[in-house]
Amino acid sequence: MNGWVFCCVVFVAAVSVCYGECRFPPSLWCSSLEIAKKCQVTGQCEEWTFPSVNDVRPVNFTLYYESLCPDCRNFFADQLNLAYTKVGGIMNLTLVPYGNAREKQVGSRWEFDCQHGKEECVGNIIETCAIYIIKNITVYYPFIHCMETTDGLPEDAAAKCATKFKGIDLDKIMGCSKSSLGNELEHQMALQTNALQPPHTYVPWVTLNGVHTEEIEHKAETDLVNLICQTYQGLKPAGCKKEDNYQLHSCPRN
Ligand SMILES: *[C@@H]1O[C@H](CO)[C@@H](O)[C@H](O)[C@H]1NC(C)=O
Ligand SMILES: *[C@@H]1O[C@H](CO)[C@@H](O)[C@H](O)[C@H]1NC(C)=O
Ligand SMILES: *[C@@H]1O[C@H](CO)[C@@H](O)[C@H](O)[C@H]1NC(C)=O
Repeated sequence: MNGWVFCCVVFVAAVSVCYGECRFPPSLWCSSLEIAKKCQVTGQCEEWTFPSVNDVRPVNFTLYYESLCPDCRNFFADQLNLAYTKVGGIMNLTLVPYGNAREKQVGSRWEFDCQHGKEECVGNIIETCAIYIIKNITVYYPFIHCMETTDGLPEDAAAKCATKFKGIDLDKIMGCSKSSLGNELEHQMALQTNALQPPHTYVPWVTLNGVHTEEIEHKAETDLVNLICQTYQGLKPAGCKKEDNYQLHSCPRN
């Protein structure tokens, strides 16, 4: 009998200490605004559960890169891939494969001069054509990610990667990359890159909702998932939960 009373007293004490005014288990704290207020977690609930703002446009994230640059490849392998996998649904990713290349017009064609040699230009144009031909990023992202994380010549990487995923018409992509269409599409990537304000001074170079700052670049290179989640104004997806995030190494610049 005494034991039962003791248990009862301990239980009531525990409940009042743990919950105070808030007499609800944590699993219910965000179930209504009223309970959230009582339990003093409105801020947290708004962030994770109640969409407090109507703006649910995805975050525009654009990556300016060149196909063979080691730092760009590292960025693809860790930060970008983690973000694309975890929070791709709230990120409008745009890939611009041109980077530090230069171009000049020779007759009716553009001649490109790439930082890591001719093969890099080949890689840039293959990826540009893949984007143009496939159109659907859900399909071309894994292909380009694969190319960026496969060693060897870009043409060989493209051939290998095309067999790994559905919906990659390698012949069409390679045909485009050697045609005047591919040449013109790569020129469009050059125009987009050269229009950057401020102008890029290294790659990978990123813009977040059209803006580049050193702080944005640093956050992108150290915890892109968090950067996208913090910038997104709508209901945060599960991939944003902090406990899931782990930080991968960042890439030193040249
Ligand atoms: C995604 O980005 C592209 C340009 O990079 C833009 O044209 C398009 O409107 C954006 N889409 C959304 C939904 O923001
Ligand atoms: C893009 O591809 C994915 C995967 O095949 C598919 O589920 C989705 O419907 C496609 N989106 C569009 C706009 O075609
Ligand atoms: C993303 O870019 C598109 C096209 O420029 C623009 O309409 C949209 O408002 C941008 N989204 C955000 C969140 O800034």
